[in-house]
Amino acid sequence: MSNPSLLILPGDGIGPEVMAEVRRIIDWFGDKRGLAFDVSEDLVGGAAYDAHGAPLSDETMARAQDADAVLLGAVGGPKYDTLDFSVKPERGLLRLRKEMDLFANLRPAQCFDALADFSSLKKDVVAGLDIMIVRELTSGVYFGEPRGIIEEGNERVGINTQRYTESEIERVARSAFELAMKRGKKLCSMEKANVMESGVLWREVVTRVGQDYPEVELSHMYADAGAMQLTRWPKQFDVIVTDNLFGDLLSDLAAMLTGSLGMLPSASLGAPMANGRPKALYEPVHGSAPDIAGQGKANPIACILSFAMALRYSFDQGGEAARLEKAVETVLAQGHRTADLLGEEGRAPISTSQMGDAVLEALDASL
Ligand code: NAD
Ligand code: IPM
Ligand code: MN
Repeated sequence: MSNPSLLILPGDGIGPEVMAEVRRIIDWFGDKRGLAFDVSEDLVGGAAYDAHGAPLSDETMARAQDADAVLLGAVGGPKYDTLDFSVKPERGLLRLRKEMDLFANLRPAQCFDALADFSSLKKDVVAGLDIMIVRELTSGVYFGEPRGIIEEGNERVGINTQRYTESEIERVARSAFELAMKRGKKLCSMEKANVMESGVLWREVVTRVGQDYPEVELSHMYADAGAMQLTRWPKQFDVIVTDNLFGDLLSDLAAMLTGSLGMLPSASLGAPMANGRPKALYEPVHGSAPDIAGQGKANPIACILSFAMALRYSFDQGGEAARLEKAVETVLAQGHRTADLLGEEGRAPISTSQMGDAVLEALDASL
């Protein structure tokens, strides 16, 4: 049997820097754990625009559709700010998500003990935190029609449309309930049913799906109150399910509960393919971080943990995923810190590749 295929799209800015560390970790699993992948690499975002004049070529799109899993770094950067909207780097990522139909975006926020002091919130608020945000990823205001900038009278109007069908709500709700069943059996759904019809429908459909999961304690919260509760006492949550835009905001907020945006991985999952694996793309929650790109300062942990999610959700290697997560926990406990994990502390940070070295050492020690 051939090895499972992994398409790597490093992208822009710190994307290629953090992905270089993940490549070493993938090789480690091949050498030391007999987990070989057919790894290939391609362009996305600004890098693809520079090469082909489009942020994702049709060929790359087809390769992503055929891969057992896709691993992406980050896209975007100031160099591309003035490009026409249709060819901006972010459009490449959105095309991947849409055409692969990756409707369930899993964004776990876990606070490692070693970083509990480092969050901008009090230690007892975040210590031991382990929540999962399930963000709907292929619909809502990101994709709704009509959209655009039009002339109206003597001025222009910017238009985007929040739109959800019942089936779109139902499938992401089901993913969230399934996850809740495997975790703490608590699900909080967030929308704004007080002001948006799409929120009214969202609440109704999630409640209906909940009837199939009587063991899961379901609650509903307006997303603005949810943001407040996430900072007040985040440990009240287990799984959160929310729409595309609210999920984008709430997951960046959740990132800071864990200490740094450089810590948060994600999995974007679609329906199962013929081989039973879900269509899947794994990527850190953070972006291309233009302010630190090219300086070896980026924290590779979010991207490393995204590969751990690939091991768990695409390759049925939960044990090896846990090994990698444990290695990350170990290096943090040992005090290894990239700059984002030091803040105003006077200590000298380690570099992106030194963090990769430390994780590889911890992996070796795990054997
Ligand atoms: P960003 O996530 O790139 O950066 C926000 C802040 O977090 C910056 O100060 C950055 O230095 C820091 N940061 C992010 N990741 C880090 C890491 N791994 N290690 C250390 N520090 C890290 O968000 P932004 O500045 O708003 O966006 C920059 C570009 O990235 C934009 O073009 C945006 O559209 C794009 N973006 C892409 C993705 C993606 O590819 N999935 C996600 C978010 C933003
Ligand atoms: C994310 C990013 C993307 C989003 C952008 C880059 C398209 O912010 O993955 O969180 O808004 O979904
Ligand atoms: Mn975002």
